[in-house]
Amino acid sequence: MASSWLGVGVLILAALLGSATAQAGGYGYGGYPAKVAAAPSTAPEGAPAPPAVPAVPAFGFYRRSCPPAEHLVKLVVGKAIRNNPGVGAGLIRMAFHDCFVQGCDGSVLLDPTPANTRPEKLGPPNFPSLRGFEVIDAAKALLERYCPGVVSCADVVQFAARDAAFFLSGYKVNYRLPAGRFDGSISLENETLAFLPPSSFNLSELVQSFVAKGLDVDDLVVLSGSHSIGRSHCSSFSDRISTPPSDMDPGLATILKGQCPANPNITNDPTVVQDIVTPNRLDNQYYRNVLRRKVLFNSDATLLTSRETARKVVENAVVRGSWERKFARAMVKMSLIEIKNAANGEIRKNCRVVN
Ligand code: HEM
Repeated sequence: MASSWLGVGVLILAALLGSATAQAGGYGYGGYPAKVAAAPSTAPEGAPAPPAVPAVPAFGFYRRSCPPAEHLVKLVVGKAIRNNPGVGAGLIRMAFHDCFVQGCDGSVLLDPTPANTRPEKLGPPNFPSLRGFEVIDAAKALLERYCPGVVSCADVVQFAARDAAFFLSGYKVNYRLPAGRFDGSISLENETLAFLPPSSFNLSELVQSFVAKGLDVDDLVVLSGSHSIGRSHCSSFSDRISTPPSDMDPGLATILKGQCPANPNITNDPTVVQDIVTPNRLDNQYYRNVLRRKVLFNSDATLLTSRETARKVVENAVVRGSWERKFARAMVKMSLIEIKNAANGEIRKNCRVVN
């Protein structure tokens, strides 16, 4: 095994050259120590027995059990994004969709089985639009080669989103992520509709759906900035270009009408880019688009409907570098929603099926 560690180390070093400096400066989430000391192998005499299940995930969780884990995921994600940046957008969205349904437990990855024919991934918010599953498979396959049975799929999803944000932001969104989530075994299509907000939601509906998951209005505004990358199917916003009056910029509405059929349906539902200015760059352009009413969804436009959120939109649009920092923090916060532990989860061997 030692020689394979060495091999993988060389691979990683080669692949990460150039990003190493940027990587050193990560962000943490308040309340978590910057570094978690590895547990001593024997407890000092008289010390209370360590809890069987750690209470919270920790930074550097795989430092001992699978040292190259985070680098391996980054390697796979970087390669996938070089091939197709859209996959990176898919991975960031996947982290959100995983966390809002059954917590961040990899439940979005489970395939249908005879016992559960309608898992989350077949829910309308996910199918057919959610993408990046094959990147998670590739990362997990590599991890299983080097450290079988150690790294959870739930962690791979969050690492992959973190790495996608890193690459797509030109290394500006760069954060350390506590790990140690376990994988869940419950995955139900109808829960996707119950917990994932649709693009038609207004501000108070959006806030409610975020608060239900322990996130607040700040997180809502900051995480919505992800809509500065990736794509949308025409069916996700067709109401806003077909029914006047719409508060969408007329110029954008005209462009979209040229790209979308009048009545998109399952056999004719093209995609368009979300951010026409910098489509593959994770940046604060989204907030400028919101201010100019050049956004696709009601859920984006509605951020201007309260004084508080409109002020945050302006701040993110104009203060250089501040959104990237807030985004990193909010992603960490989101990644800790209702996570599972050894008592109620497992480490899947294959992310698509429970063990
Ligand atoms: C605030 C409520 C949100 C709503 C209503 C919403 C809705 C949507 C919709 C309808 C799409 C287009 C799907 C399609 O038709 O292909 C989309 C795409 C996307 N969303 Fe959201 N979203 C929300 C929040 C978030 C959050 C919190 C994140 C990440 C942290 C996120 C990340 C993305 C990304 C990256 C894409 C592009 C995906 C791709 O290109 O494959 N969204 N969102």
